[in-house]
Amino acid sequence: MPHFTLDGRTIPFEPGQTLMEAAMAAGVYIPHLCYHPDFEPHGSCKLCSVEVNGRICSACTFPAAENQEVISASEEVRHLRLRLTQMLFVEGNHLCPSCEASGSCELQATGYYLGMTDGHFSHFFPRREIDASHPEVLLDRDRCIFCALCVRASRDEGKNVFALSGRGIHTRLVVNSPSGKLGDTDLEATDRAAHICPVGAILVRGTAFRAPIGERKYDHRTIAQVALEEERPLVGRQHGQAED
Ligand code: SF4
Ligand code: FES
Repeated sequence: MPHFTLDGRTIPFEPGQTLMEAAMAAGVYIPHLCYHPDFEPHGSCKLCSVEVNGRICSACTFPAAENQEVISASEEVRHLRLRLTQMLFVEGNHLCPSCEASGSCELQATGYYLGMTDGHFSHFFPRREIDASHPEVLLDRDRCIFCALCVRASRDEGKNVFALSGRGIHTRLVVNSPSGKLGDTDLEATDRAAHICPVGAILVRGTAFRAPIGERKYDHRTIAQVALEEERPLVGRQHGQAED
């Protein structure tokens, strides 16, 4: 089987797999926010940055190949990911202590995993519209990190409820309805798109704070442990490979 090295460890891969897929299949966690094994890679958050033969690449989009020497666990790469995470925090309005997703949020869990203790950069405090027009689902754009998971999930469901509009700092999550309101779409609370958000931007009403402190997703497990436990069995679906 072809293989590459990741932090000195031999990682086998199937032709067509990305570095992320091969690493995850081998039980190695590479931080990620916009990647999910069930969807086509988006390559936008750059949290999965690794050094490949001396060059920084996104592991979720970069194809695995023979003779690659990949570095993920160096202090330089960790520091790059820390700065990217801090940028995500200051570019939105992430009020973790009062957020319904606190304890279950992938952005927050990534911050803990990387040892983030402050925002480092100045907060942008952007003005973003909250959409409470849907009877079952709330959209708080303050927390959106533009991972496009809801966009991909809704597209795969054939509804195309969400889309990203604009570029760079002007990127916004938009809703595809004549009014631009969520309440005028055919989104249902049972749709995967209503549950895939890695932060607290899309919330199903009536579920907030259901899990008390001590029983939340990342209270006792790191995001690395959760990802390997929950996402690793899904790796390979995009390539039609058997699940673990
Ligand atoms: S609403 Fe959530 S899932 Fe959708 S792009 Fe924003 S962070 Fe990602
Ligand atoms: S996980 Fe690779 S760019 Fe977001």
